[in-house]
Amino acid sequence: MYYLGLIILALVVIQLVVFSYEQIVRVRRTRYIFSLEKVLLKKKIDNVVAQNTKKNDAEWAWSGWRKFRIKSVVNESSHIKSFYLVPHDGKKLPRFNPGQYLTFRLKIPGISKPVVRCYSLSDSGDQREHYRVSIRKQIAPASDPEAIDGIASCYFHQALEEGDILDVKAPTGKFWLDITEKTPIVLVAGGVGVTPMLSMINTLDQIGSKREVWLFYGVKNIEQLIMSDHLKQMSIKHNGFHLHHFFSAPGTFGVRAPGSGNHGHISCESIFQLGAPLAADFYICGPGAMMDSMVSGLHVHGVSEARVHFESFGPAGINRGVAKPEVLPEKSETTIPVTFGLSDKTIMWSSASGTLLEAAEAAGIQIESGCRAGSCGTCLTAVIEGEVSYIEDPDSDVEKGSCLTCIAVPKTKLRLNA
Ligand code: FES
Repeated sequence: MYYLGLIILALVVIQLVVFSYEQIVRVRRTRYIFSLEKVLLKKKIDNVVAQNTKKNDAEWAWSGWRKFRIKSVVNESSHIKSFYLVPHDGKKLPRFNPGQYLTFRLKIPGISKPVVRCYSLSDSGDQREHYRVSIRKQIAPASDPEAIDGIASCYFHQALEEGDILDVKAPTGKFWLDITEKTPIVLVAGGVGVTPMLSMINTLDQIGSKREVWLFYGVKNIEQLIMSDHLKQMSIKHNGFHLHHFFSAPGTFGVRAPGSGNHGHISCESIFQLGAPLAADFYICGPGAMMDSMVSGLHVHGVSEARVHFESFGPAGINRGVAKPEVLPEKSETTIPVTFGLSDKTIMWSSASGTLLEAAEAAGIQIESGCRAGSCGTCLTAVIEGEVSYIEDPDSDVEKGSCLTCIAVPKTKLRLNA
């Protein structure tokens, strides 16, 4: 009887164990299915959101010129102002890739033709309420009596104010950050070249990216820094955001700045000494000399061309690095005659002459230009005789029988209507 009781008890215990085990397995399976469903549901929601976002972007995109109203103007420093722009039609805006720019057509009193200029977008590309450009007032250096103040930037600074309406083309440009990537990024900015970097940083912040970001920001002195409090806040908010300033002529202002301050110009050596990772994507924007030294320095350090992105800033705003002789097709001693019919001038073009626009400017021939990157169409010039080839694909439509001189080189003997 005693043993029978023990056997019954053992059977009950075994049943209980089996039952408990089954329960545990069932609960685990339910949890697993639930988490799987959660992941699938999130994916579905993300897909729907992405599709809707794309749909909205397409719906709110525009081609040609669109009217924008200046919503507000903010002084960022003694020489840089930010202009917040909203569509005059009251509709939303499409997102843009951080690093891209806007093209403006300015009707400046006293100037017969509209002036076309491009300025980088400086705020997050992931919002639809406004666009922001931050523009430096271009003052001719006293050391150069021939130089004149920048027509467009002075117009922005001195004449335009809240409520004014401007003609604006949609964001464009090939210098932009792929926010879907995960690689560390190193941003090297000189002066107002920090504006596209601000757009990149703000976009990453807005989408909640955890990406490692290094910003090396060079100016003459602390007075010329813009949005330094904002950048300082970013470096506090994000562990992976490293901010370093460089002051080439600190003078009486010293080097006290939010973030660390370094004397001198930014160089490849200095950024790596400060800890920039070699296995990163590099974005460089600033004066031509800084860009050249950084691009060649990175090349020497073995960084592949595909990971080096650059855009230079000239007096007219953006001046893309597309026209550099080293990216022109086949360096050779061959020369090609190019005649500018209206100016009655013929030059012997060689690969060192750069694009047709640069060659014309070097010969003292005026061709209107804006983006200098094949986007705005301002430099469109009729080809009377001969053929051209492009050093990169034009972004804007090219009329038959004409060429965009800012990205074109002669293929054959050429005659242009300029
Ligand atoms: S200057 Fe804009 S397309 Fe040539």
